[in-house]
Amino acid sequence: MDFTKTISELEQDLIHWRREFHRIPEIAMEERKTASAIAEKLRAWGFDVHTGVGGTGVVGILQGGEPGKTLGIRADIDALPVTEETGLPFSSIHPGAMHACGHDGHITIGLGTAKLLSDIRNKLKGTVVFFFQPAEETLNGAQAMLSSAILQDMQLDAVVGLHIWPDVPLGKIAVRGGPVMAAVDRFTVRVIGKGGHGAIPQKSVDPIVVASEGVLALQRIVSREIDPLKPAVVTVGRIQGGTTFNVIPDKVELEGTVRTFDPEVRSFIARRMEEIMKGIAEGSRASCQLDYEYGIPAVHNDEKLSGWIQGILKKSLGEDAVVTDLPPSMGGEDFALFQQKAPGVYMFLGTNSEKNPSYPIHHAKYSIDERVLPIGVRVFCEIATGFLG
Ligand code: NI
Repeated sequence: MDFTKTISELEQDLIHWRREFHRIPEIAMEERKTASAIAEKLRAWGFDVHTGVGGTGVVGILQGGEPGKTLGIRADIDALPVTEETGLPFSSIHPGAMHACGHDGHITIGLGTAKLLSDIRNKLKGTVVFFFQPAEETLNGAQAMLSSAILQDMQLDAVVGLHIWPDVPLGKIAVRGGPVMAAVDRFTVRVIGKGGHGAIPQKSVDPIVVASEGVLALQRIVSREIDPLKPAVVTVGRIQGGTTFNVIPDKVELEGTVRTFDPEVRSFIARRMEEIMKGIAEGSRASCQLDYEYGIPAVHNDEKLSGWIQGILKKSLGEDAVVTDLPPSMGGEDFALFQQKAPGVYMFLGTNSEKNPSYPIHHAKYSIDERVLPIGVRVFCEIATGFLG
């Protein structure tokens, strides 16, 4: 099927929709205006629409002309708590919220695909289900949607998703099998000492010194205890304790994140953190508690489906347009949870161009190059018609 003409006819609508969504960014689990605008369009195009899925999520189901497989297409819809500084005429009208991660583009690409597929629904063998997912940035929207009754009862044969990506040139898309984004864990350590006068340390157990030693020791897990060829990050992002210059506090709290791909490396780090922190605390007459929270798993693309998608996209976008060796990112994505429901592939859609020398995503001046929108629509349309052909 050739989408060249229908996509070019849709281009002005895509730009218009993207700017509308860009103006009304809503942060995680507050995506009410966004969700209702999405639902309204899907209903107008004849979709079976479910709203309030997992909070503010929207599910749109399109039945083809004949029975067949079911493909899921997932787009995240939330904004970030960032004050926009782009100066664009369609800047955020919501103070303190901004589409700084390109999710306005993801919504638009999902809707553009929905529109074009609804126009040819009789030619599709099977079903396409669109998941407009809230709260990706806080990594809890996918879980919320997947726990809903409608998704629990749903059988999917495959699921795809993409992120607009400034590290990939405009016109290209990165697709590969295997791990592409890391597992995201969170930890809190409470170091408990004994407070007292800053000038009389011998009568106290100083948790600041113990916590400091702990922060440095945790860094040695990655540098000295893990195979250097297996990626891992341990970051302490918050350290808090004490009130003033001459008082030794009772306790200090550390909080941070661990990123890994290999499940064995992941559990090894959790275990070693506990042993190291306990050892340091005991040796210093202090005590400590570690809460290690296993978050979302790594995004791991299905090898067979990735290979098939690479082939489909090389044929439609051109051999050079498909990047097959983009290195994995230590960032996380809760698309990983959709991959537990069905074989899934997460892709990175290039938006870097001379016209748009991009700020990094999450920056207050970040904006997508809108020429990426029709390319994203084509990617999903080709995958959907190929899969249900
Ligand atoms: Ni994002």
